[in-house]
Amino acid sequence: MRLLVLNGPNLNLLGLREPEIYGKQTYADLCAMIAAHADEKGLTVDCRQSNHEGVLVDLIQAAYGVYDGIILNPGAYTHTSIAILDALQAVGLPTVEVHISDVTKREPFRQISYVGLYAEKRIIGRGLQGYLLAIDHFLQK
Ligand code: DQA
Repeated sequence: MRLLVLNGPNLNLLGLREPEIYGKQTYADLCAMIAAHADEKGLTVDCRQSNHEGVLVDLIQAAYGVYDGIILNPGAYTHTSIAILDALQAVGLPTVEVHISDVTKREPFRQISYVGLYAEKRIIGRGLQGYLLAIDHFLQK
């Protein structure tokens, strides 16, 4: 099984960015954690990040025929991007939505998730561990 972990805007600044919300571990730490977990479970998992909506759409499109599933934290585009929702619907790949923070307990604008209309599972507020839980979800299927 081959999975794509896709992170949206500002997630490259993990560690620096509001550590009281997102923690002190960096984006590099996250990718290392994911690589170690994937290795342990015998999976191929690639990590990509972009601050640009169109690039995220391109990466979702390019995932078709290459990956068996997508683990997606679209960052702020979660709450705004119909283009990302359309890309997911177009390629039809199973997708797990991940949020590091508990968006359900934050500002009202974070209560909307376009990606959530498509994702088969949402993992919210579990910190970086959420990405590993998403990998496990694919393994258990
Ligand atoms: C986030 C939550 C979003 O509301 C925010 O814009 C992010 C990160 C999370 O992982 O908790 O960039 O997706």
